[in-house]
Amino acid sequence: MKNILITGGAGFIGSHLVRLMVNKYPQYNIINLDKLTYAGNLANLKDVQYSPNYRFVKGDICDFIFIQKLFAEYNIDGVIHLAAESHVDRSIKDPFSFAQTNVMGTLSLLQTARLFWEGSFEGKLFYHVSTDEVYGSLKDDGTFFLETTKYDPHSPYSASKASSDHFVRAFYDTYGFPVKISNCSNNYGSYQFPEKLIPLFINNIRNNKPLPVYGKGENVRDWLYVEDHASAIDLIFHKGRKGETYNIGGFNEWKNIDLIKLMIKVVDKFLGRPEGSSESLITYVTDRAGHDLRYAIDSTKLHNELGWSPSLQFEEGIERTVRWYLENQEWLDNVTSGDYQRYYDEMYK
Ligand code: NAD
Ligand code: DAU
Repeated sequence: MKNILITGGAGFIGSHLVRLMVNKYPQYNIINLDKLTYAGNLANLKDVQYSPNYRFVKGDICDFIFIQKLFAEYNIDGVIHLAAESHVDRSIKDPFSFAQTNVMGTLSLLQTARLFWEGSFEGKLFYHVSTDEVYGSLKDDGTFFLETTKYDPHSPYSASKASSDHFVRAFYDTYGFPVKISNCSNNYGSYQFPEKLIPLFINNIRNNKPLPVYGKGENVRDWLYVEDHASAIDLIFHKGRKGETYNIGGFNEWKNIDLIKLMIKVVDKFLGRPEGSSESLITYVTDRAGHDLRYAIDSTKLHNELGWSPSLQFEEGIERTVRWYLENQEWLDNVTSGDYQRYYDEMYK
């Protein structure tokens, strides 16, 4: 493979993956296709924007004609598909845009790649990046999501991701189209849009704003450092078996309220506040509708088959992440003010 299309590369996980691929594989041309929605931000990729093996293209995965032209222009051999609407709370308010982007957008990419690669799928690959939320919710009983766990999505977001996974698998079963899928747990790290728990709360603690804890804060999430997700994608893309699903996670479950108290401790320490003083900002609010109780990924298959393990202990990852957001206040302020969106809209209109 030579010409690799990464969709959603200006988003949180996508930007980490683009950086890894551009730096690690000078022999590849990396084409980053992104619509630059509110979640896409080219400032996430400033360090690689002039690399000779990198191109940015602004466009919508749902635009079937445009995607066909893109495949022809860049002679795409491989796709790593991350573009999506990704925030559960937004999906509860606006399910249509989730079905449109996550289902129809994925189908538009699949169908284009299939038509473009028709005749020989040799050396071609469509890698679909998905989520553990498709498996539904676990009880607090020590069980894990396996690759064989039955899909049971509850939010419009997870329903749309589950649907896209089904289409990817249907293309494999029906056409012998070369696919791989991974389902990852909650990511954290730099460049995450501050609507998600960790960057939102770091920013609010810094600004002495209330920390809206949904329900009683007892829901459990399984957190993975974003660069470890990117390294797993790289490994699966190159070494994983076609037609297979791989779960990605670091066996790192945290009850929300415990994680929030850890973040408070770390942010207070960095800001020179008395330890734990920001706990007064904790505000219990109405629970998220359909809030999944617990996610926990079993990534033994990925470990045993491909030798992947996460590189970082969680406490170290959280310290790194808190430091990054506090040292990159300009990025945070730009993103929360919407300035970056206006700038790039102007540039790419
Ligand atoms: P994100 O919201 O930060 O980024 C999504 C990117 O997709 C943005 O750059 C956005 O502009 C782009 N995009 C949206 N609609 C588009 C369209 N129609 N055409 C082209 N580009 C479009 O998301 P993220 O958190 O980086 O997640 C990336 C992928 O990984 C998603 O598919 C998500 O489901 C999956 N995932 C995320 C997590 C997580 O914890 N964040 C965990 C597991 C899997
Ligand atoms: O599990 C993988 C998924 O993780 C990804 O597929 C999604 O794209 C990603 O957004 C994430 O989904 P969650 O809903 O788990 O993440 P979020 O950061 O929105 O919330 C994490 C937990 O914190 C969840 O139990 C809800 C809670 N929460 C969240 C916010 C934003 C709060 O209590 N208060 C908040 O303000």
